[in-house]
Amino acid sequence: MTQKILVTGGGGFIGSNLVDALLDDGTYEVRVIDNFSTGRRENLAHCLNNIELIEGDIRDMEIVEDAVADVDAILHQAALPSVPRSVKAPITSNAVNVDGTLNLLSAAHKAGVKRIVMASSSSVYGDTPTLPKDESMTPTPMSPYAVTKLTGEHYMRVFAQLYGIETLAIRYFNVFGPRQDPTSMYSGVIAKFMTAALEKSTYTVNGDGLQARDFTYIDNVVDANLRALKAPKLAGQAINVACGEKHTLLDLIDAINEAAGVDLPIDFREPRAGDVMYSQAAIEQAHEILGYEPTVSFAEGIARTFAWYREN
Ligand code: UD1
Repeated sequence: MTQKILVTGGGGFIGSNLVDALLDDGTYEVRVIDNFSTGRRENLAHCLNNIELIEGDIRDMEIVEDAVADVDAILHQAALPSVPRSVKAPITSNAVNVDGTLNLLSAAHKAGVKRIVMASSSSVYGDTPTLPKDESMTPTPMSPYAVTKLTGEHYMRVFAQLYGIETLAIRYFNVFGPRQDPTSMYSGVIAKFMTAALEKSTYTVNGDGLQARDFTYIDNVVDANLRALKAPKLAGQAINVACGEKHTLLDLIDAINEAAGVDLPIDFREPRAGDVMYSQAAIEQAHEILGYEPTVSFAEGIARTFAWYREN
């Protein structure tokens, strides 16, 4: 039977890639809610005839109630991303990421939605002394953004326990790929560095460039979400989805230089407030609960992403 899926933030980088995958699968009807504050209409332009689009804000309960009506499951991607944005404006990040998530959960519970999968973040861990970071570690957020994501996870689990909604929070680790917006001051580092490589300008590095991330190509995250829709039973868990590796920013710059055939200068600046130093995921839980394995490596992801930025 066809399932109706609501993708919140479906106009964003991750959300719109999820929408495409749901439509390609052929067994889903797709509804999107997005206020296009960080999402982009162009990300959905090619599929507007095949989805139902609600333009609105998840802080608005009436719109959220309309959005959840008659849906079987929700992929909750709507959020204000960015650690530095949240350091600058914590109240706004909290309103969208926490109040918005609580609105969605409350409306979904009232409407009888069975399952909600939420985009959480590797940032919830903070700087743990041990790598890789696994789900048994106590989260220690270092930024308002990380606090909002961890709070969202708690609300998801509590709604699972109290009301029996099947929920899962997926802790994404630095996702990158086609459609990631390079134009904002809060853009992710790979989008920014790819643009620098195409413009043959400079890489601006916060700190010494030895900080490391488990950079994860978008297809891996999309795959985990589709698996989460089909998983037999979800019960409020929070799990990592990543590649299980770590790459420093200097490694990243080497990889981008090679893909672009350039060797650009690096401008080293002060470290960024609220920044985590090392991030690397344990991905055994994702395998256990979802049967997840990363299918696109860091190197392959960089090649595909660079090709996309060159063409677009
Ligand atoms: C964090 C989360 C990630 C989440 C994302 C959402 C961690 C470990 N990761 O990403 O899971 O999805 O927020 O916004 O908390 N940098 C530069 N130059 C630049 C831009 C960035 O040196 O021009 C550096 C940053 O200081 C940071 C690293 O690159 O050390 C990655 O930054 P960014 O891409 O913004 O992502 P995170 O903040 O790591």
